[in-house]
Amino acid sequence: MSITFDEKEKVFHLTTKNTSYIMKVAKEKYLSHVYWGKKIKTPDMENAQLNRATCFDAVPDKKDRSYSLNFVCQEYPTGGGTDYRVPAIQAVFSDGSRAVEFIYDSYKITSGKPKLKGLPATYIEENAEADTLEIVLTDTLKSIKAVLMYTAYNEIDVITRSVRIINESPEQILLEKVMSASVDYETSDYDFVELSGAWGRERHIERNPLRSGIQSIESRRGASSHQLNPFFALASKNANEEYGEVYGFNLVYSGNFTAGVEVDQLFKARAYIGINDYDFSWLLESGESFQAPEAVMVYSSHGFGEMSRTYHRIYRKRLVRGKYRDAVRPILANNWEATYFDFNEEKILELAKTASELGIELLVLDDGWFGKRNSDNCSLGDWYADKEKLPDGIGGLAKKVKEYGILFGLWFEPEMVSPDSDLYRAHPDWCIHIPKRERTECRNQLTLDLSREDVCEYIISAVSGVLDEAEIDYVKWDMNRHMSELGSAGLSPERQKEMSHRYMLGLYHVMEEIVSRHPDVLFESCSGGGGRFDPGMLYYMPQTWTSDDTDAVERLYIQYGTSLAYPVSAMGCHVSAVPNHQAHRITSLSMRGDVAMSGNFGYELDLTAFTEEEKEEVKTQIKQYKDLRTFIQSGDMYRLQSPFEGNTTAWQFISEDGKDIFAAYFRILCEVNGGISRMKFTALDTDAVYEILGDGQGKRYSGDELMNIGLTVDLWGDFNSRTWRLRKV
Ligand code: DGJ
Repeated sequence: MSITFDEKEKVFHLTTKNTSYIMKVAKEKYLSHVYWGKKIKTPDMENAQLNRATCFDAVPDKKDRSYSLNFVCQEYPTGGGTDYRVPAIQAVFSDGSRAVEFIYDSYKITSGKPKLKGLPATYIEENAEADTLEIVLTDTLKSIKAVLMYTAYNEIDVITRSVRIINESPEQILLEKVMSASVDYETSDYDFVELSGAWGRERHIERNPLRSGIQSIESRRGASSHQLNPFFALASKNANEEYGEVYGFNLVYSGNFTAGVEVDQLFKARAYIGINDYDFSWLLESGESFQAPEAVMVYSSHGFGEMSRTYHRIYRKRLVRGKYRDAVRPILANNWEATYFDFNEEKILELAKTASELGIELLVLDDGWFGKRNSDNCSLGDWYADKEKLPDGIGGLAKKVKEYGILFGLWFEPEMVSPDSDLYRAHPDWCIHIPKRERTECRNQLTLDLSREDVCEYIISAVSGVLDEAEIDYVKWDMNRHMSELGSAGLSPERQKEMSHRYMLGLYHVMEEIVSRHPDVLFESCSGGGGRFDPGMLYYMPQTWTSDDTDAVERLYIQYGTSLAYPVSAMGCHVSAVPNHQAHRITSLSMRGDVAMSGNFGYELDLTAFTEEEKEEVKTQIKQYKDLRTFIQSGDMYRLQSPFEGNTTAWQFISEDGKDIFAAYFRILCEVNGGISRMKFTALDTDAVYEILGDGQGKRYSGDELMNIGLTVDLWGDFNSRTWRLRKV
């Protein structure tokens, strides 16, 4: 059992392979947090847990003036009492009162991990993989319970947390805030590390020291967003890729989230993550429960690198599901940047033919195949083929594409509706809106109201209908606007603030239905690029379009930042045309290939416009990626040089058995007489010999030489790269 409870000391101790998480029931009442970090034996509680009330601190036990809830590290802090730090829960009761007082009630330890109803979450395949602890806290006056659920994975250093709130009173309770996890630290000597950005500049790494007050990130857009990601880490000041302590928090949720850290008067820190309480409330009827999403927490004593590899492992193996969890992902060509809306069947078949000749395995038809969509101003919701462009419909096109021996994929944007569409004309109240208020359009579209069952059922049948009728192997599921004028025609006035979360529950239901009805289809999620790159989406769709920005230099930052929490097998990465459509930069085909190969490889440009010389280069890239992809997609990634810290970026992939290695080095601007550059490998076997394959074929070096002396890199010109393929001899 990786979870124990010491009845006498009232101490819960959760362990993973290398970590411990410890809690104690203090004074027979209060569930307090004791420790989270490197694996230890159960410590002496008097030493491990400090109680020291300070001035203006109220004391719940008159006989013990040292014990204050405002000081002690807590496990699930409540509002309205004597802990003035940020609460994990806020509720309003029928008498108007707001104080919640959770007292320890009971616990249950089971092997395995239960599912979360209606929500995505990490899973197990065998009970022996993990143990789960449920701790029940009760407010006896108000008959409200919190069931805190913790799962400790045995072999992966992951602890997951979630919370279920149960209303056992005869009256309604209004929940205003329910965090998924709250963790107290005795010190605030950490940096707050997060992934922020914008459309086309997603997930850049920001690192700032903690300071007094609250430092937080959140989304109020109805999606996890390009702007801030539901991930953050607390890192010791000296933490780098290999050294130092790092605590990672990631919410398995695709909607409005909040996460942050409060540093209090005594420089202690409280971290939290959960559904955003902004514009949120939930009316809990008597007997009902509310399930908060899962937080995936990773502690690493070996810096960011180990934290990331742990996230990659759990997400690759126990979050992503279905056929493509373990299967290699096909190399694709997408027509979007090749044609935009301007295509017909002939053009698509030309692309398919060329793709097949080059060795590409899947052709994806992007936006513009349905309704009368020749620009982005109409037809979302009308999921039937435009017969002017595609006379034989999607079914006919799919058959013809497949005659070239490749797979066929199709784009959808199922959550949206264009005001100029048959769907909107038939159901004007199916979009998110407030009666009589302007329905503000973004990209000429409105958001369908997925908090409504009828809307969800329409989407399921419309998308499934197309997938049932044509031979479709891949779906790109796009989403191109954020919510505004929040309101649902399906909810009563007092439930309007439930809309954003009900939308997510509806979306998860829709995706669950569609992916389980079509188990052989590879799904890739997208939101104007990486606007919904989160673990919630990955549970349904094993890969995500990382960013609409396909410039090779910009992608170094985006892919490097994304890898902090998410595996490369989740990142769609394509070679696109130059000058790049977003950055207008010209980079070599070779660098574009090396950057895109560091993820799920594909092309997004007019393949028919390649010169003969370019075609040969592309064929070589494709051959190369076919040799690399098993371990790029399923092996370990090591970040070696950060684009956020200098002119060079480097990373390395290594297969699980340590035998196959691929490393890439990128230099943005040329440095004349800039000194000697070396690529130092990592995680190799010091005593083993490695052979360089491909370029430099046959040369052999010892692991310790490759790691300590490294290989020289000679690059000339701006925007350049060099890669190495190694095999252990
Ligand atoms: C946004 C996506 O990120 C693009 O790749 C493309 O699919 C367009 N939408 C199509 O409208």
